[in-house]
Amino acid sequence: MPHTPRTLTIRQPDDWHLHLRDGAVLQAVVGDSARQFGRAIIMPNLKPPVTTTAQAAEYRERILAAVASLDEAGAAGFQPLMTLYLTDHTPPDEIQRARESGFVHGVKLYPAGATTHSDAGVTDLLGRCGGVLEAMQRHGMPLLVHGEVTDPEVDLFDREAVFIERVMVPLREAYPELKVVFEHLTTRDGVQYVSEAPGPIAATITAHHLLYNRNALFKGGLRPHWYCLPVLKRETHRRALLEAATGDSPRFFLGTDSAPHPRGAKEQDCGCAGCYTARHAMALYATAFEGAGRLDRLEAFASLNGPAFYGLPVNTATLTLEHVDTDIPHELPMGDDVVVPLAAGESLPWRLQG
Ligand code: DOR
Ligand code: ZN
Repeated sequence: MPHTPRTLTIRQPDDWHLHLRDGAVLQAVVGDSARQFGRAIIMPNLKPPVTTTAQAAEYRERILAAVASLDEAGAAGFQPLMTLYLTDHTPPDEIQRARESGFVHGVKLYPAGATTHSDAGVTDLLGRCGGVLEAMQRHGMPLLVHGEVTDPEVDLFDREAVFIERVMVPLREAYPELKVVFEHLTTRDGVQYVSEAPGPIAATITAHHLLYNRNALFKGGLRPHWYCLPVLKRETHRRALLEAATGDSPRFFLGTDSAPHPRGAKEQDCGCAGCYTARHAMALYATAFEGAGRLDRLEAFASLNGPAFYGLPVNTATLTLEHVDTDIPHELPMGDDVVVPLAAGESLPWRLQG
């Protein structure tokens, strides 16, 4: 009798933090997400950034056209949930337009200079963006936060913890009803803050921060494909993240932060930050949850907690993973270029069925 692999079926998951880019890159990568996820929060850090509802509408159409041109039944239902890029000059009435559009689900805060394409970001959140924050609180529009200070005096590995004290706590004291998502949480400090803070707060966690600590950046040499921001942290932090993701709090949910950069942009004297995880996203998360002995918690983290926070229905479809060893390719085509997926050349114990 042929051997039947062990399978895991969950309600279809969503990705609450995704970079799709635009043009040929968008076309090349969107299927990787659309084959697994029902919806994804689409990050607005294009060049130039998506700062208005009108720009988000156009970007959304380009994403939907890219999905339609895949001509794959398994990807067809994918819904991009759009976001706006907050600047020092975002007018408060943009928030009402965004809310009324029905397709903008958040506004992203990039502290100016914190990461890829963040130069148009915010220089002083409470000083410059008060009117917008007040409008967001009033309209129930979530603020999605890249939570790192940019102060060069602060050690790179401490920038999330310092952000909590300097920005997050004052922000949430000033706007206690504002919905906040602490994106790509990477520290024990962050887990503790999000677990205990009053009011509407949640956090996304990437697969790479669940699977790796900062040793991965230097394993046998310098490993640019493990470099992202916020950077991987110590093992104690990874363990705290894994406990949060697999635990009972509904405040933690899946956000891959999959960020495609061409191979050459990562392998150079000043390589870009970002890990490409979209192709194997659910297999990576299943591997992390299985390692913690908590596969039973994957569905809540991947498919239930995010919709509950965003006030959206859960997906009706299901997704099945098979326990079968699967090799991660050394590279994947991406337009005229190639992207190196995270953990290229290694193997994972899970794959998507079908
Ligand atoms: O590693 C990262 N890459 N972190 C970010 O915050 C942005 C992202 C990107 O857009 O490449
Ligand atoms: Zn991101």
